[in-house]
Amino acid sequence: EKGGWSSFMAKEISEEPDAIANTLLGRVVDGDVVLPELDPIQAALDDVDRIIIVACGTAAYSGILGKYALEKWAGVPTEVELSHEFRYRDPVLTSRTLVISISQSGETMDTLMAVKYAGERGANTLSICNTQGATIARESDAALFTHAGPEVAVASTKAFVAQVTALYLVALKLGIARGTLEPGVVAGHLEQLLALPGKLSQVLETGSQIRELARGMSDTRSVLFLGRNVGYPIALEGALKLKELAYIHAEGFAAGELKHGPIALIEPGQRVFVVVPSPRDSDSLHRKVVSNIQEIRARGAFVIAIAEEGDVAVLPYADDVLRIPLAGPMFEPLLAVAPLQIFAMELAAAKGLDVDQPRNLAKSVTVE
Ligand code: F6R
Repeated sequence: EKGGWSSFMAKEISEEPDAIANTLLGRVVDGDVVLPELDPIQAALDDVDRIIIVACGTAAYSGILGKYALEKWAGVPTEVELSHEFRYRDPVLTSRTLVISISQSGETMDTLMAVKYAGERGANTLSICNTQGATIARESDAALFTHAGPEVAVASTKAFVAQVTALYLVALKLGIARGTLEPGVVAGHLEQLLALPGKLSQVLETGSQIRELARGMSDTRSVLFLGRNVGYPIALEGALKLKELAYIHAEGFAAGELKHGPIALIEPGQRVFVVVPSPRDSDSLHRKVVSNIQEIRARGAFVIAIAEEGDVAVLPYADDVLRIPLAGPMFEPLLAVAPLQIFAMELAAAKGLDVDQPRNLAKSVTVE
């Protein structure tokens, strides 16, 4: 039931801190990552030389963050592919390939068929699902469940943060096993993960600022989203949410692509959300994105920056700034996504639309 919430989506966004906490529960023990669910594929994990993540929609965007973590922390070459593209192009699969599928429902037909295809061609399969007993979990060699709780609203929200949490656990576990992470680094990352629910609760308290912003934009016809590095999948997700919920044309770009084409779209009044990288991670990436903001601002864009607390470099150029607490570069996407989810929901509500049941969409896509 919705409880006191205006929609299931609002309720489910409010449950995001718990979705992360519950997905971590019992899996971080004494500075180690404990995932007995991976036991059935332990031999394969010891030998893996390539990972392919298959998923659709929001789940595929969580997969991009999984890729960054798996490569950065475990040093395993990783690709992300949309499930429905994967099996129609003769992908190279060997017994050393691990195919990780991600699906909230665990019933998405495209992803199920990709998992079956991978298994038939000798790859090892691991599924990350949010629904116990789901078909995709049963069809995989191993299954790791996210504990976001049932997601009722058609648009995926809390499942996304739970998926990223689960992928980060797998990446850390592999990094520990392969010796690619120093124990001190592991400890730092685990600490950041465990602190996320509290920080995300703080982000959710800024909901009224986002509602005001959304209400002022209900006549907007197009919104662009820019992000770089781990902010890139967040930009893609922000755009997807806005399309599905508010039926507004939206596109997410890697900020570095701007000058390769999309900057031509910038005209006075164009709304652009920019997910700003942490200045502490890479000074040069931060500076590059701030300079992207200057470039689009100079062409009349209305810029809403999502930036770390204390990042003052964005202030002279952004029309509005949504703040997220410091969490370490890899973890900030888990805080930056909620403002975009809330924005899409509030804009849809301002237009009088049904945020739980957007037109033309089904919660689980069980046809190809
Ligand atoms: C977006 C959304 C969809 C799903 C996609 C995959 O809000 O809900 O893009 O993420 O259909 O669904 P699952 O995760 O159930 O495989």
